[in-house]
Amino acid sequence: MTTTLESKPAAQAGASAATAAPTGARFDIYASVHKGLRMFMADTLTRVGRLDLDDATELGATLGQLDELLASCRSHLGHENEFIHTAIEAHQPGASLRIAGEHEDHLSAIAALVGDTAALKARPTAAALHRLYRHLAVFVAENFAHMDIEETAHNAALWAAYSDAELAGIEGSLLASIEPAEMAIWLRWMVPAMSPAERAGMLGGMAQQMPPEAMRWVLDIVQPHLDQQAWTKLARALDLPPAPGLMTA
Ligand SMILES: [Fe+2]
Repeated sequence: MTTTLESKPAAQAGASAATAAPTGARFDIYASVHKGLRMFMADTLTRVGRLDLDDATELGATLGQLDELLASCRSHLGHENEFIHTAIEAHQPGASLRIAGEHEDHLSAIAALVGDTAALKARPTAAALHRLYRHLAVFVAENFAHMDIEETAHNAALWAAYSDAELAGIEGSLLASIEPAEMAIWLRWMVPAMSPAERAGMLGGMAQQMPPEAMRWVLDIVQPHLDQQAWTKLARALDLPPAPGLMTA
């Protein structure tokens, strides 16, 4: 069965993804999405670096992935501002100011990268491509350092103020605000970026809460991006047939 990105199961997937497993002793609201973002950024940067300007299909696909990455980054920092920074500021005023300022810088960098991308599309020269590649590399580097501060200083502020159940509730509200088409993009990058145990924990939790058609929507998104070994481990954990394309529900 094929489901569309706008289907009802998609919304259920978003609401149920609140069961994402923490990687440490405390509930880590950043861990899974940041793993996905790091993979999304690294993969896109690599594709831009090796891009063949003489291949129109590859050019379109690569710049399409870059457009999707930049839109996802813009959305992600908005989610953090709205849900996570609000929670931090409620207990520790000023504690999110540095990262909020960096989010403003990231919005400017994203706008500049959109400009670089438009310039490359208008005139696909090696010079325009290398300019985009260098600027994207700096953006990725800044985001990697930025995410580490969020996963240390911001998590410390969150853990001091909230229980794990309260943090899971904040994450649930954040996830419920995400439209199905965007949720599909996050699942596509987050799940392959996780360890097998994290993957089994998150999708196992979702499978317990979601109807079969919603779970099939999730698996149809992630399966093409897992290698055979990773899919076999996940299938075993979820008690699914091991071979791709054989799942029934
Ligand atoms: Fe951030």
